[in-house]
Amino acid sequence: MSDSKTDYQLLAKQLEALLSGERNWLTNISQFVALVFNNLNQLNWAGFYLKVDDAYLKLGPFQGQVACTTIKIGKGVCGTSAEQRESVLVKDVDQFEGHIVCDSRSRSELVCPVIIDNQLWGVFDLDSPILSRFDKQDQLGFEELIRVLIRSTDWNAGIGHIN
Ligand code: SME
Repeated sequence: MSDSKTDYQLLAKQLEALLSGERNWLTNISQFVALVFNNLNQLNWAGFYLKVDDAYLKLGPFQGQVACTTIKIGKGVCGTSAEQRESVLVKDVDQFEGHIVCDSRSRSELVCPVIIDNQLWGVFDLDSPILSRFDKQDQLGFEELIRVLIRSTDWNAGIGHIN
């Protein structure tokens, strides 16, 4: 397996095991990011942007450099993925019109939407300092990881409560 190839079947099993016994969404998306960031090569940023209203996404749990806090739905790679409710694979961020620069080292990007009960909940964003770091296999792999996350989580479980 070359440097940037990931065994997504294995990662999905690790994710399932990691999240078993815990349903809180904030806890689970935080674990998701840490697992991904520490198991993939050639990443400089990984994290969630959460839909807060009809127009905006806000920064959620992430690993990497501090990032833009607010993204308008429809803008940048994240906002495009949110608006289209589809994954967006960007081989070269300089070729994506409207790309939002958070970490200037980012050269390529993959964003996958999180859709729960047919509603957009947010997006998961991965950045790499390597051009063309992500391919269709990575996209399909992440779409599967997000399905595992969705079914392992209670998206209505409150935070800050002792249940
Ligand atoms: N590049 C993204 C913004 C988020 S950061 O990469 C963390 C975009 O164009 O939406």
